[in-house]
Amino acid sequence: MGLLDGETAIITGGASGMGRATARRMTEEGAKVAVFDLDGEGARKVADEIGGYGYGVDVGDADAMQAAVDAAAEELGGLSIIYNNAGTMAFALTHEISPADWERVVRVNLLGPYHGIRAAVPYMIEAGRGNIVSTASISGVRPAAGEGPYAASKAGVIALTATAALEYGPMGIRVNCISPGTIHTGMTDPLLAWKEGNDFMREKTPLGRIGAPEDIADTVVFLCSDAARYITGHNLVVDGGVLLHGSGVDGLLGFADGPKTPV
Ligand SMILES: NC(=O)c1ccc[n+]([C@@H]2O[C@H](COP(=O)([O-])OP(=O)(O)OC[C@H]3O[C@@H](n4cnc5c(N)ncnc54)[C@H](O)[C@@H]3O)[C@@H](O)[C@H]2O)c1
Repeated sequence: MGLLDGETAIITGGASGMGRATARRMTEEGAKVAVFDLDGEGARKVADEIGGYGYGVDVGDADAMQAAVDAAAEELGGLSIIYNNAGTMAFALTHEISPADWERVVRVNLLGPYHGIRAAVPYMIEAGRGNIVSTASISGVRPAAGEGPYAASKAGVIALTATAALEYGPMGIRVNCISPGTIHTGMTDPLLAWKEGNDFMREKTPLGRIGAPEDIADTVVFLCSDAARYITGHNLVVDGGVLLHGSGVDGLLGFADGPKTPV
């Protein structure tokens, strides 16, 4: 018996990193999964691998998300889980980030989860149950220099999670978010494939290693499972202990001649 037997799930940003690992884990635990990504080809590739459905969709586009959620719910035969995970970033001093980049980051990272909740909740209200999980970040809890729009958007996700948990709890819908620390994915590869950057991040992690996408996938499966039945409105930090003594990429801005677009 799987932890998610009979569940029907949408995962955004599912072509890569944490989203792809979660698509695999949810499938292993018995869920039927639809993979959403801006990279439609990548989404369909993951869907083929897990026996699910793949969609090319921009989470920042409200109408496109509504249409894709409706289509996925039809193919899945219902919708009981949405994992709002797609994300993007910009890394520089606040005044050096262009208005266009600010808008891009907030549109994907904060409006994306809003669009997901907006489109998915009616299915869950009708069913009288559901689970919503979104990917925030330790940057939304303790921002570091260089993370202006990223940290602001992720703090917004934590607040949105609390609001939605209050609104939908009485309808049988749990709403949580996770705040990963440094996880080796496509987003962080420019930093972590660079030895100095990898050492910098690993040395500030009490558990002594960089996180893997599967560390996040297991957490999301837990939150969506009955084992987490009394947990809602929570921001679950999954960071190997980094926040115990500082913020995520604190000190990275201006560190050596490192890449400008890490974490
Ligand atoms: N990697 C880390 O250390 C870390 C830490 C904290 C939070 N996060 C967050 O985790 C989430 C997943 O990122 P990841 O690390 O797996 O990176 P990733 O780059 O491997 O995956 C992100 C996926 O999101 C997709 N995406 C980007 N913009 C999109 C859009 N507008 N619409 C649909 N899909 C879009 C990308 O195509 C990609 O497949 C993000 O929200 C990120 O901010 C990552």
